Amino acid sequence: MPTLNVNGKARTFEAENDTPLLWVLREQLGLTGTKYGCGIAQCGACTVHIDGVPTRSCVRPASSVKATEKIVTIEGLSPDGSHPVQKVWAALDVPQCGFCQSGMIMAAAALLKAKPNPTDNDIDEAMTNICRCGTYNRVRKAIKVVAQGGDTKSARLAIKHSDGSTT
Ligand code: FES
Ligand code: FES
Repeated sequence: MPTLNVNGKARTFEAENDTPLLWVLREQLGLTGTKYGCGIAQCGACTVHIDGVPTRSCVRPASSVKATEKIVTIEGLSPDGSHPVQKVWAALDVPQCGFCQSGMIMAAAALLKAKPNPTDNDIDEAMTNICRCGTYNRVRKAIKVVAQGGDTKSARLAIKHSDGSTT
């Protein structure tokens, strides 16, 4: 039986040659945090990392992933939601319905690993995920806050109010 390395563990699976990795993750391995949106590599809801590279698992056949390649899903990003991206996402209330957010977080985590201080252009290029709730501005802010070490003030994102206070 073929094997995948998922979140640090060897997992066996059964699939046709063209079965997408997404279905193996969700239906055979029970990792349902990775979502199905479009199925044609457009929305990014199905994004996982393969050897650190953000990958749209709806169009990647599971059979094409080598047993030595390391797959990380949202469940494997941290054991308890403590990855810096997850912490800032929660602090800034980025998600709305949440459906696209596993993919957003995985794409952002890969971007920040590759470019710890991404420019707006870097963010535009890396974050091509689609969010029907329109969380794009919050996603951009959250990435900048993570880049600034998780501090909203040093990231210069604080909102100044008419009474002089900031939040
Ligand atoms: S479900 Fe894979 S990109 Fe939309
Ligand atoms: S938060 Fe609802 S689709 Fe993105």
